[in-house]
Amino acid sequence: MLKDKNILIGITGGIAAYKICELIRMYKRAEANVKVVCTQNAMNFVTKTTLQSLSQNDVGIEHFNIDDFKIEHIAYTDWADIMVVAPASANTISKIANGIADNLLTSTVCAFRKPIIIVPAMNTGMWENPIIQENVEKLKKLNYTIIDPETGFLACGANGKGRLCDNDLIFDTTDKILNPKLKKKSKIIITAGGTIEDIDPVRYISNYSSGKMGLAIADCAYNQGFEVVLITTKEVEKPYKTIQVKSALDMQQAIDKEFKTANYIVMAAAVADYKVKNKSTQKLKKTSADEITLTLTKNPDILKNLCNKKTKQTIVGFCAESENLEKNALQKIKNKGCDYLVANDISRNDIGFNSDYNEVMIFSKNGNVKKLQKAKKTEIAKSILDTILK
Ligand SMILES: Cc1cc2nc3c(=O)[nH]c(=O)nc-3n(C[C@H](O)[C@H](O)[C@H](O)COP(=O)(O)O)c2cc1C
Repeated sequence: MLKDKNILIGITGGIAAYKICELIRMYKRAEANVKVVCTQNAMNFVTKTTLQSLSQNDVGIEHFNIDDFKIEHIAYTDWADIMVVAPASANTISKIANGIADNLLTSTVCAFRKPIIIVPAMNTGMWENPIIQENVEKLKKLNYTIIDPETGFLACGANGKGRLCDNDLIFDTTDKILNPKLKKKSKIIITAGGTIEDIDPVRYISNYSSGKMGLAIADCAYNQGFEVVLITTKEVEKPYKTIQVKSALDMQQAIDKEFKTANYIVMAAAVADYKVKNKSTQKLKKTSADEITLTLTKNPDILKNLCNKKTKQTIVGFCAESENLEKNALQKIKNKGCDYLVANDISRNDIGFNSDYNEVMIFSKNGNVKKLQKAKKTEIAKSILDTILK
């Protein structure tokens, strides 16, 4: 979708500058033309040679480098369809918000009349500084697209908000802005994580599901312009709607509230088949008995129930098998009545539970089978979405 688009990347002096090398490659792989303009401070974090080689274009840094009687920052504004300032330092954000144009990058932004995406990345203290927040708000009001930083482990050792968002999100935002009509606004519900079934107030039965696969699908769908509802047993902070649940029953209730208006449901959560019958409201005490017995009772079959009551929805189930993957998956897709079934082989410890990688087979109700080779869950998520959208 970005083929032949002219993308101007502005890099400032932040530690996340190195991540933009990969973003350039992503744009180039999509056959976009890329030029890079850097602040002088950015050169402390990445080299001109690297950026030049990756973008296959000269890199602009010097403001007064007037070649062929062309004024560089004006030439950029004529050439580019969009400008992406990433990482955007607190310093540069503040300059842009106040119309300061004292280097090639800020002068270009100042003169630019086409869409600008600003991707801040900085230490939490800087990000939460009210002056920076005020400047960011000002830019949002002036129609700059700001992609908020994420919360997580930062290069300075702190854990908080300020980390550069994923390159996938920057890429998809660029695509969305340059190709606005191509993106449909469908609603997708994604479930993730292992449900938790209480035994008593301190003990529970659960499983090893990390929720990473569902989360990757939710992120990918959000980046592609879907209205996303993530129903998960894990605590997450996302720019889309997330509902945290605990047990299978909670999950069912949350899905029921969202189901009617959804177009796609992806059931990536590992839902417990059984829950504890008569869970104790008080902590169970140790007794003299050597054995105790917990009686389990069946949870509702959420996937099957959804398939029975579906109207317009495309429903995707997941199964985790430790043996006879193909045979069990085929049986399950028939039994549940879902449109697609994504089968995971959990006998391998290099993929699946808790890993960032997966290798799956996607079965469709009309008998098609697609094998996705081992890849990062973010890549697998893209392929799953591509498959169900077709
Ligand atoms: C090691 C190091 C890392 C830095 N990382 C960031 C950062 O991630 N975000 C930020 O806003 N400033 C960061 N700074 C501070 C900026 O480099 C500084 O504010 C500089 O003036 C930004 O200049 P520029 O906006 O012209 O690129 C860092 C400084 C150093 C020394």
